[in-house]
Amino acid sequence: MEATRIPLVAGNWKMNFDHLEATYFVQKLTWLLRDAHFDYTRCEVALMPSFTSLRSVQVLVEADKLRIRYGAQSVSVTTQGAFTGDVSADMLARLGCSYVIVGHSERRKYHPEDDANIVDQVRAVLAAGMRPILCVGESFEERRQGIELEFAVGQVRDVTRDLSDTQASQLIIAYEPVWAIGTGMVATPQTAQDAAQAFRDELRESFGAQVADSVRILYGGSVTSGNASQLIEQKDVDGFLIGGASLDVEELSRIARLTVKKTR
Ligand code: 13P
Repeated sequence: MEATRIPLVAGNWKMNFDHLEATYFVQKLTWLLRDAHFDYTRCEVALMPSFTSLRSVQVLVEADKLRIRYGAQSVSVTTQGAFTGDVSADMLARLGCSYVIVGHSERRKYHPEDDANIVDQVRAVLAAGMRPILCVGESFEERRQGIELEFAVGQVRDVTRDLSDTQASQLIIAYEPVWAIGTGMVATPQTAQDAAQAFRDELRESFGAQVADSVRILYGGSVTSGNASQLIEQKDVDGFLIGGASLDVEELSRIARLTVKKTR
């Protein structure tokens, strides 16, 4: 990968861990990484807890001056008002969030989140000074039809089409093929590379080389310490969005350490 793109290992906890478990996890992860002399300048580590844990994580990170970052798993498209149950981007920014996952396939499936809503989420996150982690990826059906790249690149295009160059440069894209999420069926390194390269080509066409070379493209879907090394070796893969394996603190610290090692 380009030396200018610092890899990112992001744990998407989904609906797991209450705030006490989250606090314990963050402490343990940072101890493990400290003991391993982990170099945060060569790999960023971020956690995406539930909304209910964010304040606890913020207090811990600020009090102990921890180097890990954190973010949210979704966001409202509106700024305030009568939207029962929603959480605004400004509220997340005030909690010290660096990132917000946008368009995860589980959100697209279980909530009415279509491309228009996802575009608005991206804009809301950017306006609040955070970075969206935009999730895209084909289902098994598109792969069976051989249109997987067309489909996933189309998702990137649909969401980014009206962004400015500056806005696009703030994006992180996560290639998460739906068939690989939580199934143990990880994409091959070549499949991950092909998708990441196709996204970068699309960004180059729309926003120019500078944006294309700076946007980090993650892979997500059944990542473990057993497959992370080969995946991160791919030129256009800049890190991981990790579900199941991010719930095991030893495993997540192993993946982060492998990601550092393979990047220089
Ligand atoms: P798994 O790592 O459990 O396959 O989940 C991936 C994911 O959905 C991350 O956002």
